Amino acid sequence: MSIIFNEQERSFTLSNGRISYVMQLFLEGYLGHLYFGRTLKHFNIKRAFYQTEREGAPNPELHADARTFSLDVLPQEYAIYGSGDYRIPALEATLSNGTTTLDLRYKSHEIFAGKKPLQGLPASFVNADSEADTLEITMQEVGGELEVVLSYTIFNDLDVIARSARIKNVGNGNVYLRKAASLSLDLPSTDFDRVSMYGKHAFERNVERVPLGHGIAIDSSTRGATSHQHQNFLALCEHNADEFHGEVYACGLVWSGNFEAATEVSPYGNTRMVMGINGFDFKWELKPSDSFTTPEALLVFTQDGFNGMSQNFHGFVQKHLVRGEHRDALRPVLVNSWEAAYMDFNEDSIVNFAKDAVKLGAELIVLDDGWFGVRDKDNCSLGDWTILNAKKLPNGLKGLADRIHALGSKFGLWVEPEMVSPDSELFRAHPDWALGVPNHVRSQQRNQYVLDLSRQEVRDYVVDAICKVLGSADIDYVKWDMNRNLTDIGSATLPASQQQEVATRFVLGTYDIMERITKAFPHILFESCAGGGRRFDLGMIYYMPQVWTSDNTDEVCRQRIQYGTSYVFPPITMGCHVSACPNHQVGRSTPMLSRFVCAMSGNFGYEMDLGKLSPEEQEEVKGHIALYKELRPTIQKGKFFRLMSPFEGTKNETSWQFVSQDGSEVIFMYFKNECLPQGNIRKVRLTALDPNATYKVTKHLFTPSLAVNALDYLSNYNLEGDVFGGDELMEFGLNMDKVDRDFAAHLLVFKRQ
Ligand code: DGJ
Repeated sequence: MSIIFNEQERSFTLSNGRISYVMQLFLEGYLGHLYFGRTLKHFNIKRAFYQTEREGAPNPELHADARTFSLDVLPQEYAIYGSGDYRIPALEATLSNGTTTLDLRYKSHEIFAGKKPLQGLPASFVNADSEADTLEITMQEVGGELEVVLSYTIFNDLDVIARSARIKNVGNGNVYLRKAASLSLDLPSTDFDRVSMYGKHAFERNVERVPLGHGIAIDSSTRGATSHQHQNFLALCEHNADEFHGEVYACGLVWSGNFEAATEVSPYGNTRMVMGINGFDFKWELKPSDSFTTPEALLVFTQDGFNGMSQNFHGFVQKHLVRGEHRDALRPVLVNSWEAAYMDFNEDSIVNFAKDAVKLGAELIVLDDGWFGVRDKDNCSLGDWTILNAKKLPNGLKGLADRIHALGSKFGLWVEPEMVSPDSELFRAHPDWALGVPNHVRSQQRNQYVLDLSRQEVRDYVVDAICKVLGSADIDYVKWDMNRNLTDIGSATLPASQQQEVATRFVLGTYDIMERITKAFPHILFESCAGGGRRFDLGMIYYMPQVWTSDNTDEVCRQRIQYGTSYVFPPITMGCHVSACPNHQVGRSTPMLSRFVCAMSGNFGYEMDLGKLSPEEQEEVKGHIALYKELRPTIQKGKFFRLMSPFEGTKNETSWQFVSQDGSEVIFMYFKNECLPQGNIRKVRLTALDPNATYKVTKHLFTPSLAVNALDYLSNYNLEGDVFGGDELMEFGLNMDKVDRDFAAHLLVFKRQ
């Protein structure tokens, strides 16, 4: 791994032996981007950027090359507006004289081992300085008011480059940032498909792939959180790239608020990608000497298709983003009270609920919403965390937690610290602590307001109240929820010139309280949640090592949601639970085994009252929990590969696979949702096996046949004991015909012989 500055060529090369990233200084210090891709041994840098005169592309003055050099064509490292580049900029600012033209030139650079933290922001880290090298390039704005430090870290173990920018006011007057993206990346091609994710509540992270056309395409959030609707992830890939082959450039943002992920195809054969905090409704006041640091963006390049991309993200998340003692620990099988009881419970009913679950193997009982204040409905009490609900919990949280522990289980609790109910003691005492705008009636969502976490005293109150709760009983796990988007984004204390900072300050404030609370309780396992997957992002994962993937627990929908989520996030981070049928979100009934196979593909648990199941069903659940515990090391710590996409092909089948770190265990899952007659031949090819080894099926579970005369290959065949070649499974594949029921699922466990 190395970062080299070649003085003669005025070039920077970052390389880890697999990928290289090359930049060059042009003319009087314009920083151009030359290459990002597979490592190069030789590079004739003189031929790397084609200069010619182009009508309509402005040229900088005072230079011999003037007519053949234009910022409108130069692939750039951090694009700015006003001095000749008409494409989407990374940085926009209003200088103290009211003008908006920017012109950044190289000033200096520094190369060092390791990586610095980003003050107040979640960011990737190294466990030892030898794991990464960092390059910081300082650019100065020619007007003398701004300096921009561009930071690049390359890692030795994974093909990821972390980028961020720090913008400093080095002048004497106030400067206003209007946009400060984490990166721009100019690629010298337009032959890409654009891959992004869209969704809605309970249907997050659907993968969409479209050929990139000329002009601008944007995914963004203005909701104050990453959002159910869009993901702060973007990939550009070759047209023929698939899960296993092909070049993919991907970017994920370590940020949990408003964002913009934009691409622009220029007429000169260039594609620009810009990612960062959304410039819409953003303004940040920089007084003299003030700095603003952008969130970090993670750039991945692979030639091994989307699985190659995900291998890099998954490894990176677990090694360089997740912190704390739970990172490397196996996660417990959890049973959550929400869909079992909603807010209708008391100490005895929760203890009974826990008894039934623990009997079947549950390791963690979670009490969800409704345990505090006078909360029987979602219309009150948020904020009143320390007001005991004596009707439901006469012996307090401690009384309940002790009884759950006495059953041999851990105990977990739900909180929603960023919110306040209009009907709460907290709001009655501090109505100005909620975000709001003078002369406007606040909007509600789920009968609640958002606390103004830009204010120190509000943050201090929240930290104090939540710490009191967490210190009041033996609590092993916390589900940290956030059930609405931001509206009426104003703060009662900031001056007019800073009101457009509030959406960003809210996220920074959330990070501050998360840092303080998680630090104060290092033994608690935190799971982030935001109405399910509103905030399943790389920022949250820095504070909390797992996330409630979606409020939708329907097995069929979950195949899509988990498939999309796995583009960036490893299964250990995804909360995946079996719930009752008919499903509470979509009303569908699917077999218990199929629900299990889907939910066990992540961080497994139940969202139902197991005591209400028949004795036969309880036996089945007991077996499932035991099997998950057996397979958990491979599922939580192994490698995950997608095999068949629910977004492509028949859109009726999904398949994926886990391989243990040492390759000795392989777990294969296949789902077919709608039964169609006269089934097609369906072979699913596995991946990442040893072609010279043989693999024995040690477990084969499949949804029982419903056909009277089941004659097809797998309907009534159990493959346990069969031996397959690694090459056979990867080249020929596994025959998965099944024609006799809806919602079929197969689970096969192979052991390498
Ligand atoms: C939304 C979450 O996603 C649910 O799982 C549940 O915790 C409710 N909030 C509780 O209000």
